[in-house]
Amino acid sequence: MGTVIAPNGMQIFVDSANIKEITRWLAEGIVDGVTTNPSIMHADGVRNLEQGAVQIAELVHPRPVSVEVTTNDIEDMMRQGRKLARLAKNIVVKIPVINQFGDSCLRVIRTLEEEDIRVNVTACLSFSQAAMAAKVGATYVSLFAGRISDEGHDAGAVIRTTAEWLKAWGYTSRIIVGSIRQAYSVQEAALAGAHVVTVPPQFLGKLLDHKYSRDTVRVFVEDAQKALASMEVARR
Ligand code: E4P
Repeated sequence: MGTVIAPNGMQIFVDSANIKEITRWLAEGIVDGVTTNPSIMHADGVRNLEQGAVQIAELVHPRPVSVEVTTNDIEDMMRQGRKLARLAKNIVVKIPVINQFGDSCLRVIRTLEEEDIRVNVTACLSFSQAAMAAKVGATYVSLFAGRISDEGHDAGAVIRTTAEWLKAWGYTSRIIVGSIRQAYSVQEAALAGAHVVTVPPQFLGKLLDHKYSRDTVRVFVEDAQKALASMEVARR
């Protein structure tokens, strides 16, 4: 059986621009896509955003890669979004729900989606922002769990409310839960109804590991060796 690209269940994206880490987790078979933002690109050493985006897009093809626009200007966002989308078929354009001055970016989201450009609406911190993004046809809405909690709100409740509302009215937008700050947040997001959780690579390792699993396997391996040794003695 080949790699499952789009399972019906919850998807896991890698929240990173680190080629080594993306390659590592792709090989493990758990990566359904990648998300980046300008801060992640910078922290992971990408100096040319477009080149970095193309490299990741080729690496994970046909899985989606979210790449964010880098401007506050609405018309510029539109131009950048079209340009990013032309770089590779699997690039999803990340547009903030509002810009840094609080201006609506809904028109950009609606227009790009009407042009068949997939949009991931980013920096959503509330149900109402996610709902508006869904209403204008966003493919993905990104709820930032860590930042919602930073503001003293219940991220799980926001995710759950949004997921239930999307389902009740048949919206096709998928919730990506980002801003994961600890391994346990993945479980919280999953149980709250996230369609996708985008996870920084350091937490993927933590999610898999358990010291008692290691210990259990160690005992099994040691006993297996003892058993093999006694079989060897018996055979002589
Ligand atoms: C992903 O799409 C987001 O840009 C990212 O998860 C934000 O994470 P942060 O809140 O830790 O910066």
